[in-house]
Amino acid sequence: MTTPNNRRSASNDWQHRAAELGERLPSGFVVGTATAAFQIEGGAREGGRGESVWDWFTAQPGRIVDGSNASVAADHYHRYAEDIALARDLGSDAYRFSFAWPRLQPDGRGALNRNGVGFYDRLLDELLAAGIRPMATLFHWDTPLALRGGWLNRDTAQRFGDFAFLMGEAFGDRIDAWVTINEPATVTLNGYALGIHAPGEPQLWGALPSAHHQLLGHGLAVQALRAADVRGQIGITNVHSPVQPASDREMDAVVAGLFDVLHNRIFADPVLLGRYPVLDEPFDSVLRALAEVDPDDLVTIHQPLDFYGVNYYLPSRVAAGSGDASSPDGRAEALTRLPFHLEPFGEHPVTGFGWPIAPEYLSATLTELRDRYGDALPPVFITEGGASFADVVDEYGEVDDLARIDYLAGHIVAAVDAVSAGGVADGVDLRGYFVWSLLDNFEWAAGYTQRFGLVHVDFQTQKRTPKQSYRWLQRVLAARS
Ligand code: BGC
Repeated sequence: MTTPNNRRSASNDWQHRAAELGERLPSGFVVGTATAAFQIEGGAREGGRGESVWDWFTAQPGRIVDGSNASVAADHYHRYAEDIALARDLGSDAYRFSFAWPRLQPDGRGALNRNGVGFYDRLLDELLAAGIRPMATLFHWDTPLALRGGWLNRDTAQRFGDFAFLMGEAFGDRIDAWVTINEPATVTLNGYALGIHAPGEPQLWGALPSAHHQLLGHGLAVQALRAADVRGQIGITNVHSPVQPASDREMDAVVAGLFDVLHNRIFADPVLLGRYPVLDEPFDSVLRALAEVDPDDLVTIHQPLDFYGVNYYLPSRVAAGSGDASSPDGRAEALTRLPFHLEPFGEHPVTGFGWPIAPEYLSATLTELRDRYGDALPPVFITEGGASFADVVDEYGEVDDLARIDYLAGHIVAAVDAVSAGGVADGVDLRGYFVWSLLDNFEWAAGYTQRFGLVHVDFQTQKRTPKQSYRWLQRVLAARS
């Protein structure tokens, strides 16, 4: 049982480790927090905001595990000043947020909505007044519903390029770093291929054009931001997961290679190398949609970048044979039509999502990026990393989340050590780490059942309660020399 006394000794321990970690962070290493518009803003019907595909998706019964939606979420649309004060008091250097495309262009095209611009003007003013450097994501999954066909439609890439130009013109003087697209892999795989995310109509291999169009949209957005002469750095964020076969069987190795291509390389190779990966038999034909794209598109996608954003959460263990639609991750009939499935990492502790907590795989991700992309890899930011747990506010008004502290401390140390002289990823120019997330929020298909925040949010009252991990990170940051 937790008593005030043993609570104190646990907290002394993590305070001590915080100072140690703060002292070993390299000078200039950026520590920030990250959020996304749809997951925190709410205000879904305010200020002329249009509908996104996620508003439409969450309104359909059975899509979100707890039947919730994000029309209020963490009410950040109204409480942004309180939230930025929390980021300031944390001592964080930077804050990664996303612009809600449908708040700014309700129909996904045409002039910017003045109310939407006003909201982000106020947010940026607040951040700059707090001394926090803004990193802005242009697209974090909330495709305007009015863009019919979403990313399966090539025209969406053009619309996104136009949007990027207007955003560059409106905010280009105040943003330190721009991320064009967040995790095109998740949009393609969870969204268009499996249908467990919006738009929810599983296309399996038919989803590949949505990958290409997002990547094309990325290239067009980089060009547009440069044309708008923004002062900030420009990059993309891909989610990376190091992949291992579940056994020595040859078929497991073959499907692990396939999964690596689908999850990692389809998205990183064209951006960094200007080409799509190719697969050997028996899967050589599945990427045909990508093999046949216009070569000029690859030139557009392969833009010089100022940084490469990596979201890292977990490794993947892959075995031959189709998945099981009744598995927790697999509420998708489409999984039963794939030639592989994921297997658990039984040897590691897990997060609320059942994701293995194993920081060595973050080191492995950085090594893999260096080995695969060499000089083509720009400076790297880890633009997201974090863990969900079933956090509760206890009778002392505190949220005891030591497991999150362990996760974050382990991963930040692993990353910093990996890129240090003689480390396993020596040569990668790692510039910073953004914790996902500042606040508990709407966790997509998991609704409000998974809490990732450094700050607890009571979604009934909207009360914010900094967790122990917040206090811990505050001490880490204060201990920097
Ligand atoms: C996404 C976030 C999400 C987090 C945890 C990342 O894939 O960018 O929006 O909340 O993972 O699932």
